Amino acid sequence: MRTLSIIITALIATTTWAQGTFTPGAVWNDTDGNPINAHGGGIMYHDGTYYWYGEYKGHHTYRSPGVGWECYRTDAGGVSCYSSRDLYNWKWEGVVLEPDTVNPYSDIHPTMVIERPKVVYNEKTGKFVMWMHIDNHNYGKATAGVAVSDSPTGKFTYIESMRPNGSESRDITLYKDDDGKAYILFSSEGNGTMHICLLTDDYLRPTTEVARNFIGQSREAPAVFKHNGKYYIVSSGCTGWSPNEADCAVADKITGPYKQLGNPCRGNNADKTFYGQSTFVLPVHGKPGTHIMMFDRWNKRKLDDSRYIWLPIDFDGEKFTITWNDTWSLR
Ligand code: DGJ
Repeated sequence: MRTLSIIITALIATTTWAQGTFTPGAVWNDTDGNPINAHGGGIMYHDGTYYWYGEYKGHHTYRSPGVGWECYRTDAGGVSCYSSRDLYNWKWEGVVLEPDTVNPYSDIHPTMVIERPKVVYNEKTGKFVMWMHIDNHNYGKATAGVAVSDSPTGKFTYIESMRPNGSESRDITLYKDDDGKAYILFSSEGNGTMHICLLTDDYLRPTTEVARNFIGQSREAPAVFKHNGKYYIVSSGCTGWSPNEADCAVADKITGPYKQLGNPCRGNNADKTFYGQSTFVLPVHGKPGTHIMMFDRWNKRKLDDSRYIWLPIDFDGEKFTITWNDTWSLR
């Protein structure tokens, strides 16, 4: 009996994503057979290829010295990129924004925090623009960082970090609308309120056009998408690396005001977002109305072994649900 349970445990521990299916929470290997290391990520579709950018977590997790809360971290390893044409098989493209290991004062030195990178293409400048959360070891710096590249696979050149219009910026996402305008959405004001800020035409700077949403509601991990002309934001509460209940909200304009629709998750552990946290919603190219919700399942004591939970979004009128599936495929 004991031998059987050891074999079953070993099998579960080594379960990987089978060809042509998504297996949320299992180890997901790239086409070289290595676990995908792209956390807090986002995906850009460009010229027939999907590019998945994420935090490249170092292999040693430790607690940030002198910080009271559960500030687990790894050295900032930069931003990784994987490419795919089918969303199941991902090719390693390397670390496309490399950490600066030379200058100890650099925003992207390994002692810093580089989180939630997202990339969009700017048609006017022909550049790929990355926005990300840049912080120091205790998350007190609270800034947004920007980098740029001529190619989706880099290398990206880091430009700078800033507090947009003087406001704190932690969990961040980037959204490019159909009209070519791009926005950053970030947790601000002590993570209490979300700011939605229009970027300049080159996407490299914030403008002074800012909308405050979810005022005093402490939402983070924003993931934004558009469906049938409406804008949706999925977000989490603020509990560090520990899971909490997701929320979704809808608006007629990207800048809000947003109407909260409650927790979209259904099934086992839906009240804990399946032990995950939102990072991105991916519209599937060539399948109008098909969206994949991407969550991170953080492993705070071994952050590089944090897993990915991808699930389909099911619409019913203006509302949608995200239901747990052990394995699933795109139809
Ligand atoms: C929650 C955020 O969503 C993550 O990106 C990360 O910053 C952790 N907090 C750090 O505790």
